[in-house]
Amino acid sequence: MKVKTECKRVLTIRKTFPVFLSVCIFLILLQNNMDTDVSLINRMENDFTLKGFNIRLLDNLEEIEENFSSQYNKTYIFGTNTSTRSKECTRKLPDAIIIGVKKCGTRALLEYLRLNPNIKAAGPEPHFFDRYYHLGLDWYRQKMPKTHDGQLTIEKTPRYFITKEVPERIYNMSKSIKLILVVRNPVTRAISDFTQAVSKGEYNSNVTFQSKAIRRNGTVNMKWSAVNIGLYINHLKRWLKYFVMENIHIVDGEKLISNPLQELNAVQDFLEVPREISGNAIYMNASRGFPCILKQNNTPPYKCFRGSKGRHHSYADSKTLTKLQYFYKPYNNGFYQMVNKYFSW
Ligand code: A3P
Repeated sequence: MKVKTECKRVLTIRKTFPVFLSVCIFLILLQNNMDTDVSLINRMENDFTLKGFNIRLLDNLEEIEENFSSQYNKTYIFGTNTSTRSKECTRKLPDAIIIGVKKCGTRALLEYLRLNPNIKAAGPEPHFFDRYYHLGLDWYRQKMPKTHDGQLTIEKTPRYFITKEVPERIYNMSKSIKLILVVRNPVTRAISDFTQAVSKGEYNSNVTFQSKAIRRNGTVNMKWSAVNIGLYINHLKRWLKYFVMENIHIVDGEKLISNPLQELNAVQDFLEVPREISGNAIYMNASRGFPCILKQNNTPPYKCFRGSKGRHHSYADSKTLTKLQYFYKPYNNGFYQMVNKYFSW
């Protein structure tokens, strides 16, 4: 079944429906040799109520056309039971959430997933479970895009991964929700995080990466958020109190740059949607040094991520890098075991 991506198509169906309905009734009457109006109406009662035109529609025109042409059987023409199929585009709570990790490629992943018409993504980060939980689930639902039946709703808020209360809150909303975690070498992630903080003016110009990452006594400053976020095992442990690994998919942030399609195929499989992101839609932009998305009928015909993604990193001296690499090793190894996936960090 081909899923409609635009909710406005439903309006078109509504406008044309009275005409369509008349044709259908006529054909069915014909099929039944116009034997009896009453029995026909009775048989159709499960599908729609004639009075008041409380009609249960199939969600998209193509589906109607497909079923109509294959066999004009009442069940298929008028759609399935109301309990399984809604006639409207609605805002649903998410089926999947990209929970982190900050600076590992979460935005790129979400934008790539939009290329699949079966997936609808919230634009800005909703920050519901970490900041706006007190506003309630209805508020959260309003932040979601409108979807048809069969379309999957997804959002991303990387702060969820490191916020203590979030796993339990998400679990209380849905025990079977699909969670996606993008990871990369925590040392590179820390530099990326620092670079972003500098660009936002959070540190003055004489603050170096080294001065934040390494204490005066030479030990690594685990409490500094740029370092702490990279202790993936510690954060993931909290999630595993509520969710099983089968519900958490790990994306390799480095491969998302070098071979996005491979990572995206795995994500689509995990989300149980057909693989509809074509390799032709994403290409490596040589001048940018990152993949960009090709967009038909657009000027320019591609979309690269803004300057805040794929920045030139702040300087970090090799001694600090080696120290951090060494520091992270046991945590990384524990993380590989926990997720049953190996990375070369
Ligand atoms: P850098 O800016 O350090 O290179 P997030 O969206 O989670 O904040 O992650 C930002 C990171 O996404 C960037 O970090 C970059 O490495 C990575 N990334 C992955 N694919 C990208 C793409 N197509 N364009 C730009 N950055 C991408």
